[in-house]
Amino acid sequence: MSDIAISDIEAIRSRFQADIDTASDLSSLDAIRVSALGKKGEISMMMRGLGKMSPEEKTVMGPALNGLKNDVAALVDIRKTALENEALDAALASEMMDMSLPVSRKNGTLHPVQQVMEEMAVIFSDMGFSVAEGPDIEDDFHNFTALNFPPGHPARDMHDTFFMVPDSDGQQKVLRTHTSPVQIRTMMSQKPPIRIIAPGRTYRCDSDQTHTPMFHQVEGLVIGEDIHMGHLKGCLMDFVSAFFETDVDVRFRPHHFPFTEPSAEMDVRYERDGASIKIGQGNDWMEILGCGMVHPNVLTACGINPDVYQGFAFGMGVDRLAMLKYGMPDLRDMFAGDPRWLGHYGFSPLVQASLESGLS
Ligand code: PHE
Repeated sequence: MSDIAISDIEAIRSRFQADIDTASDLSSLDAIRVSALGKKGEISMMMRGLGKMSPEEKTVMGPALNGLKNDVAALVDIRKTALENEALDAALASEMMDMSLPVSRKNGTLHPVQQVMEEMAVIFSDMGFSVAEGPDIEDDFHNFTALNFPPGHPARDMHDTFFMVPDSDGQQKVLRTHTSPVQIRTMMSQKPPIRIIAPGRTYRCDSDQTHTPMFHQVEGLVIGEDIHMGHLKGCLMDFVSAFFETDVDVRFRPHHFPFTEPSAEMDVRYERDGASIKIGQGNDWMEILGCGMVHPNVLTACGINPDVYQGFAFGMGVDRLAMLKYGMPDLRDMFAGDPRWLGHYGFSPLVQASLESGLS
């Protein structure tokens, strides 16, 4: 008979069980596992002794040692799960957040550009527009060609375009110079009647007090069977009065854009009051947007029959309108990311712009 007996195995099992049950953390539990089942662990060494036993002893001790090994492994697993759950419960208790606490206004504000875009969405959705989007990195077709800028047309140069490195297939993408490509994407994927606005970032290689290389526009597009210039004027006049929350006198000046015919720019009446600007009345005019009736070539490029459908489009600079409405003096501050500026000019993220309760 070898020097280990069945009674020893029982004693070893109880000893390990007691150690495992009182292990206080995962690392001490693992130390116990190694001391029992590791390469040089107590139980592993005992199993190694089986080779030197007589066949009769082996038939008794083999299953007994195997049982011991499996039991200890199972006890370790159970304790491990329990310790992991305890750790999770402790973390949940100590990292608890009270979702019912009031929010601190200091923790963040809506950027005025975001605020103004939301105000515009509120006004235009009240007029039945939905919001469309397109990519900032555009191809030449959507940014220029389909908008009736033929290749080599001088109007392309006026856009101060940022060009991307050409793709492997030789295609040279651009950072969109305006939100008008979203007109094209919308007309190619939707059937008239169409009534959308498209807010977003636009890019031109230009930088001074009143220009930043990245700026924001909101595009508008309305297509139907009986849309005319009167709809364009009424829509935009209603828009500016709603936006500036006062009666605003406007005028339309003839202009040129390749993608609209006729084209116009819309000015609003304003006056200077010391350092600030009052929109609505006064003797001076300020240009705030470009607009016009969608050119038949643009409709055709999008697969829309210009003999059946027509419509109008407009595009306005959001940053400019935000500065006018909320009195920010320098465009470049808008994108400097200074928390003091954001704290001063930012809006509460918890107050939603609405026509009923007021836009701002
Ligand atoms: N895309 C023009 C611009 O950026 C604005 C515009 C849009 C003009 C739609 C007419 C119609 O200058």
